[in-house]
Amino acid sequence: MNDKIFTADLILAGGIVVNSRARFRADVAIKDGLILAIGAPDAMPRAREIIDVASKYILPGAIDVHVHFREPGYTHKEDWRTGSAAAAMGGTTTIFEMPNTDPPTRSVKELREKQAAASKAHVDYGIYGLLAEDNIGELEGLITGGVNAFKCFMGNTFGNLPSPSTGAMLEGFEVIAPSGLRISLHAETASIMAWRQERLMAAGRNDPLAHIAARPAIVAAEAVARAAELAGWTGARVHVLHISSAIELRPLTEAKARGVDITGETCPCYLLLDTRDYARLGSIIRVNPPVREHSDSLAIWEALQTGVVDMIATDHAPHTPEEKQQDIIWRADCGFPGVETQMPLMLNEVAKGRISLEHYVKISSENPAQSFGLWPMKGRIEIGAHADIAVVDMERTEVIRAATLHSVRARITPFEGVSVTGIPIHTLVRGRFVQRDRSLIEATSGWGRQVTNIQRMPQAKPRNTDQTLAAALQGPFEALAGTAA
Ligand code: NCD
Ligand code: ZN
Repeated sequence: MNDKIFTADLILAGGIVVNSRARFRADVAIKDGLILAIGAPDAMPRAREIIDVASKYILPGAIDVHVHFREPGYTHKEDWRTGSAAAAMGGTTTIFEMPNTDPPTRSVKELREKQAAASKAHVDYGIYGLLAEDNIGELEGLITGGVNAFKCFMGNTFGNLPSPSTGAMLEGFEVIAPSGLRISLHAETASIMAWRQERLMAAGRNDPLAHIAARPAIVAAEAVARAAELAGWTGARVHVLHISSAIELRPLTEAKARGVDITGETCPCYLLLDTRDYARLGSIIRVNPPVREHSDSLAIWEALQTGVVDMIATDHAPHTPEEKQQDIIWRADCGFPGVETQMPLMLNEVAKGRISLEHYVKISSENPAQSFGLWPMKGRIEIGAHADIAVVDMERTEVIRAATLHSVRARITPFEGVSVTGIPIHTLVRGRFVQRDRSLIEATSGWGRQVTNIQRMPQAKPRNTDQTLAAALQGPFEALAGTAA
């Protein structure tokens, strides 16, 4: 006879658990940061605390693989504390933070600085290392030093990091492929954009729509196609950030069909805004890549449903209101905060019937967890997984107001005044409330910790390893060695 009595730390009672394929009524017991039990009230262990979440939905917290928290270097816009507070308020339990800080995360030294800044986080986090022209020699160090993914800026954007040549990219992909770490791509072709922007500026085009003219959708399609070829050749895993156009879906679909390990994300602005919003929003809407035509939005929605686009991220890109509001479009900083508003905006689409709650869980949590090596500990409500949870009230309506955003230095959003139904009312990270009843738990600054990628080398499938630059620098290919001698 087993007389062991489990006492859970917490039970969420009476809610509806949602996974990617089903929802069901169940209590959820949490112990030591993990989900201990899911089931009928009678099957629950004793608990120190029981919270009634009757008729609320229990979702795995959102995993946002694209945020910019600006520290070190640009803390007048945001820092790790304010950015992760915004995530906690938005039902997001894990974020991956981008390397276009100052200094950029280009070697182990800067990785350690980033980790020190991140120690204030309310939520769990991954850290991106940079893949650039001038740090190929640092990539191995970043891998062993503990980055969770890489970022390659194929086109110019905030931070003005120079885009690597295709040659440098190829070598970078060769070096990173064996690690299995995913390389996220800002897929816009730098040379096309530089050419066009210069010509537009010379012609005196300073209006918001000139931003699209400088970065037409071909810049994205060309970059996705080129990166997908390099990924297929090297076996590196890649991820297309902020998908903005219908036409880049073609190279993405084709690459997936031929077995390239490529994933894609889009962001709420590309689904919910289009060219008709430029006159109203002016420079606030400026983002890289640009918000495009209504027909692009419709195509991206369709691709989200069919799985061509794998996930929702935010590209949370805070800038001050002064930096955003400029009469000359070229002077306005690109991007806007998003990590706090993603879940309400998308749940509002669920409430409208545009996607199911199950599919939302898939694109906001399950797919990012699987693609970035966090599954099965994150991305699902399941026994043994981290208790990373968003408790959602699908009856609750709020109006998005920049003035209440927790990105306190970047209180400006293109979604100002939008009424949203479907709100995360509690957020738990590894079993601890970081947001409760729509209030941030300040004391949880520092609770967040860096994630570990489970999916590492064993599953990586590097290709053409006999033809890497590193191999060639050692001498002729082995197959040719006899003849060369
Ligand atoms: C981002 C930023 O501000 O860091 N801006 C943007 O317009 N998306 C950079 C980026 O992701 O391109
Ligand atoms: Zn980008």
